[in-house]
Amino acid sequence: MVRNDEYSIGPLKKGEEAALIDLLQALYIGREKHVKRAVCNEPFFRHERITVARYNNVLTACLHIHKRLVYFHGRHLLMGGIGGVATHPAHRRKGLARRLLEDATVYMRKKKYDLSVLFGEPAIYEKSGWQTLTSFSLHSKLPLFQDRLLTMRKARPDDLKHLQKWYVQFNGKRTGPVLRNRKYWELWIKQVIQKRFAYKTYIVSRCKLNIGYFVCLGPGEIVEIGCDITNCQYIDSMVKAIYSKLSKAGTDINWHFFMPDLFDSIRRCSSKLHLDELRNKSYFVTIAPKYAGLCKLISTTNKALSGIGSTDDLITILRENNYISWARDHF
Ligand SMILES: CC(C)(COP(=O)(O)OP(=O)(O)OC[C@H]1O[C@@H](n2cnc3c(N)ncnc32)[C@H](O)[C@@H]1OP(=O)(O)O)[C@@H](O)C(=O)NCCC(=O)NCCS
Repeated sequence: MVRNDEYSIGPLKKGEEAALIDLLQALYIGREKHVKRAVCNEPFFRHERITVARYNNVLTACLHIHKRLVYFHGRHLLMGGIGGVATHPAHRRKGLARRLLEDATVYMRKKKYDLSVLFGEPAIYEKSGWQTLTSFSLHSKLPLFQDRLLTMRKARPDDLKHLQKWYVQFNGKRTGPVLRNRKYWELWIKQVIQKRFAYKTYIVSRCKLNIGYFVCLGPGEIVEIGCDITNCQYIDSMVKAIYSKLSKAGTDINWHFFMPDLFDSIRRCSSKLHLDELRNKSYFVTIAPKYAGLCKLISTTNKALSGIGSTDDLITILRENNYISWARDHF
């Protein structure tokens, strides 16, 4: 029986990449391609951001810190997205995942990260300080005014500049979304075009003028939109385009996020409702709580975090702002 203190914990070494992928693929059965992509496509890959446990020089557990900047009240915070947490079955329940999470926290503090997020079982991570974050989603089924001047097409590689611009226009002042650089977008576009992801990205135009984009995941699931929000007509056009694309008669739309301006736009664009249909509740707009992962405050030294002293405080701010998009920024 191997004791917990017989494992050494430290960063991944050069030359251990294949062993890491083998370990992950053996544990995430059915998601082999995905885990390989999460390591190989990481835009900011550094060995030091993969923490591993070794026993007799063999990798037995691992964890990946994905370095990201996030918008926070118009400023930026450094965020560590934790992914690929895995312990080989023969070495489980000996506190290895816990030691890796502690090590990752020490690393993030040293490197001046502000917060960390992850998606996983609260039972595993809460003991290490990550707390469940509940955000909100918007669920709607409404008839909307039609706009016949709107057209849509799938995104192409040459849309890169526009996507970047619309993303910043839409997200730059919000709290929670990831700041994406050019390298990130190039990777994203490659994935979209090669259709390796389930995400589908559409460009919306009105009278031949491109006004924005939206990303959907399956029928009726909107995971992201981007457009110029200084003109509320643009957001209305985006909403109408999304409905005309996804909402065939009777289909409802599940927005993976809630934003007051989006909610207002849906109301503005909805056509007259029949009393019978309202009575039968066949049309609705609801705001529902949604699991948005787990979050941990790493440091409070950043001026943007003044007044925030605990993970609870941070979670309150993130929940109020309702726009957490880490899931789409994990390759
Ligand atoms: C989840 C996993 C990483 C845990 O690794 P581990 O090294 O066995 O975890 P630890 O021994 O450090 O346990 C950490 C805490 O999580 C809890 N925990 C571990 N496995 C658990 C499980 N399957 N269900 C509920 N709680 C669990 C333990 O109670 C422990 O708390 P404790 O220290 O108070 O006892 C491992 O089971 C695994 O690789 N699973 C397959 C891949 C996976 O699901 N990864 C997580 C993706 S979110």
